[in-house]
Amino acid sequence: STPPNPTNEPVLSYAPGSPERSAIRAELERLRDMTVEIPAYIGGDAVYPGSPSSVRVPHDHQHELGTVHQSGANEVEQAIKAAREAKAEWAAMDWTDRAAIFLRAADLIAGPWRHTLNAATMLGQGKNVYQAEIDAACELIDFLRFNVHYADQIYREQPDNSPGVWNQVQYRPLEGFVLAITPFNFTAIQGNLPTAPALMGNTVLWKPASRSVYSAYFLYQILEEAGMPAGVINMLPADEGADVGTPAMASPEFAGLHFTGSKATFDHLWKTVGENLDTYRTYPTIVGETGGKDFIVAHPSAHPAQTATAIVRGSFEYQGQKCSASSRIYLPESLWPTIKEELAEQIESLQVGPPEDLTNFVNAVIDQRAFDEITGYIDRAKASDDAEILFGGDYDDSTGYFINPTVILATDPHYESMEEEIFGPVTTIYVYDDADYEATLDLIDSTSPYALTGAVFAEDRAAIRTTMDHLEHSAGNFYINDKPTGAVVGQQPFGGARKSGTNDKAGSALNLHRWISPRSIKETF
Ligand code: ALA
Repeated sequence: STPPNPTNEPVLSYAPGSPERSAIRAELERLRDMTVEIPAYIGGDAVYPGSPSSVRVPHDHQHELGTVHQSGANEVEQAIKAAREAKAEWAAMDWTDRAAIFLRAADLIAGPWRHTLNAATMLGQGKNVYQAEIDAACELIDFLRFNVHYADQIYREQPDNSPGVWNQVQYRPLEGFVLAITPFNFTAIQGNLPTAPALMGNTVLWKPASRSVYSAYFLYQILEEAGMPAGVINMLPADEGADVGTPAMASPEFAGLHFTGSKATFDHLWKTVGENLDTYRTYPTIVGETGGKDFIVAHPSAHPAQTATAIVRGSFEYQGQKCSASSRIYLPESLWPTIKEELAEQIESLQVGPPEDLTNFVNAVIDQRAFDEITGYIDRAKASDDAEILFGGDYDDSTGYFINPTVILATDPHYESMEEEIFGPVTTIYVYDDADYEATLDLIDSTSPYALTGAVFAEDRAAIRTTMDHLEHSAGNFYINDKPTGAVVGQQPFGGARKSGTNDKAGSALNLHRWISPRSIKETF
């Protein structure tokens, strides 16, 4: 029978006086006051390899949430063994029994674990409560439920027969294990990358980002409580990703990579696959999502206030640490004065500070390295002849890694912050001559190697069509009169091509297809 029809998990408001507002406050306090020792999880066992490093709060870097043990070649070897041992039973299981575990996990997150996972995301990754709620609660729940729905569609699909012939397709998992390498910026992606291949019968080695290992730790416990058998997903934390990635990808049993992270790392992993190709039993499946240099373009017919709101939300939510964040903005000269006024007003109202104060919109960036890289762009803009800081530009890492929302105005459309992914609360505006709209579209298309998200603002229908045509390959997720972030599972399948990744839309049947190796069977009577 058909699994429950998924609907998107409703977003809780956290409005003053709401029960969830007091609940999240209490949970933040509880987590802040305890410390955890995060192990590796191999074959269902907690393993403590040693050399623990400290897990800290981005907005209060002297505060330690706990420690995390470091996995290496030895743990990878054990995890491969555990994944191998768990595989036969997991793959042979009726798929609905696997699905039930992930649906149970979704319900645990929607219910008893919601505030813990949200609070862990707020403390460990520096999200405000609204950004945590749409990520660690809603999007993750949606991934788990919608993946089951799409898996059901896949498993039902069977070929036609002819007289005397019975054709079948058997949807087997890949032969070997899948390596999931997950990013710090979304707890939802962190949950989706190991569970999507597991749903399709694979067993997984999961390397969570060192910068979000705190929420990963709770997530593992949720999967365990939901009934995930030992060895199906093995969690291997390591500050140095290569300590896990290199030995895992040198294994003949390596059969798939599910990755979200930087382009540099993905390039390296892809080359590693090439170097090890002769070692593998099968050509590995490679699914990856990297970064973006995501644009907003306003046509002269755009609504100025709506455009300004999209710039602020698209660029500064979660401190711009989204691969989807808008960071190069193209505005027509005729609208610029009005949009500038709107921006001034909206940016002025953004409160910067720790997420425990729920009125703060902008929190700290993830760590010192990110802080240094982002503020480098700000400092260079201050000194440049081709750019000026219009709003923001202040930063302070004395307590936490705080950077004020910053808008750069560039007179050169190829100024570095118009071209390079910054992954922080810095966005750059270039003002074009109204007569040059189509030339500006060509500029947008040719400026960046990425093609993840983008948005057009226009009231003129013909202009929208022209924009869509010119920018056909510039964004895997394209928005018309909306900000380019916040894709909803089941509504806007997410992913980009070019150097943004393999475009195997997360949370879609397309993605799940990558984790199976179908066998066609023809039987003649
Ligand atoms: N899926 C995330 C978004 O759309 C990255 O913002």
